[in-house]
Amino acid sequence: MRQDVRTHAHDLNGALGVILASADLHVHRNGESEDNRAAFSLIMEAARKASGLVEKLAGAATADEAGMDSAYERDLDYLDRIAGSPDPVLADLERSGRLEEIPIVDRETGRLLEVLVAAKSAQRVLELGTAYGYSTVWMAKALAPGARIVTIDPDRERTQIAHGFFQRAGVADRIEIRNAPALDVLAELPEKSFDVIFIDALKEEYSGYLRLAVPLLKMAGMVLVDNLLWGHRASMQPSGSDADSVKAIRTFNEEFLGHSQLLATIIPVGDGVGVATRIR
Ligand SMILES: C[S@@+](CC[C@H](N)C(=O)[O-])C[C@H]1O[C@@H](n2cnc3c(N)ncnc32)[C@H](O)[C@@H]1O
Repeated sequence: MRQDVRTHAHDLNGALGVILASADLHVHRNGESEDNRAAFSLIMEAARKASGLVEKLAGAATADEAGMDSAYERDLDYLDRIAGSPDPVLADLERSGRLEEIPIVDRETGRLLEVLVAAKSAQRVLELGTAYGYSTVWMAKALAPGARIVTIDPDRERTQIAHGFFQRAGVADRIEIRNAPALDVLAELPEKSFDVIFIDALKEEYSGYLRLAVPLLKMAGMVLVDNLLWGHRASMQPSGSDADSVKAIRTFNEEFLGHSQLLATIIPVGDGVGVATRIR
């Protein structure tokens, strides 16, 4: 998509996000009259609709553009269009992520997580890196009855916001938040107790997470990992000035694909998603 269209769409979505957040505040504030709540609900609905239209306009601009980046981008736009909009809480999470520059998984990655968690009929899911809970909500929507997610993030401010989104999505009772570094929590969890483990925390620690996570997986359990293409940087020619995160992701990818206890692949979805199952 043209950079100016992308920037305007981003800014406009940012402004709509502010309107949405302040209307949301009034809808949930004690002491507001019923009339006020109703009015602010209407404002929220209009802002959501407008944000959907911005995305459609940006999509149309992309499709219309003669110099489109590639057929691959067109494919992605097409798939996103036919998949339909995510539910309102996920759409609000996407806006919050954009507005506050919180890195969250791409929408197509969220959909993939949802499908895989459902396909595994997962009873116990472990997530490393909660942020505002976007990926958590995608997975929680797919949980079998009685199933649980443990999600780890040392940032309490972020996970408080995530908890609010979990309540709004009606999944808070299925999610346990642990506010500690993932390496500490992983070391305390029982072996062979998780059906799915999703890794999306510090890139420099990915190898350490994998080492501690594999024993926690049940046999045939899945380990899923985000950011394995790391913004197109992993595939670039290695150089002495590469950031530590880039070096860490490259090392991790080789360990992941060559892991003796896993059958693993990396799919170029979103920012590159690792998908593996425990075979030993
Ligand atoms: C990429 S974000 C997670 C995004 C989230 N999975 C989503 O898609 O909505 C990474 C998160 O890892 C958290 N983090 C940082 N250090 C961590 C650690 N040592 N253990 C676990 N999480 C950590 C950060 O606070 C941040 O919220």
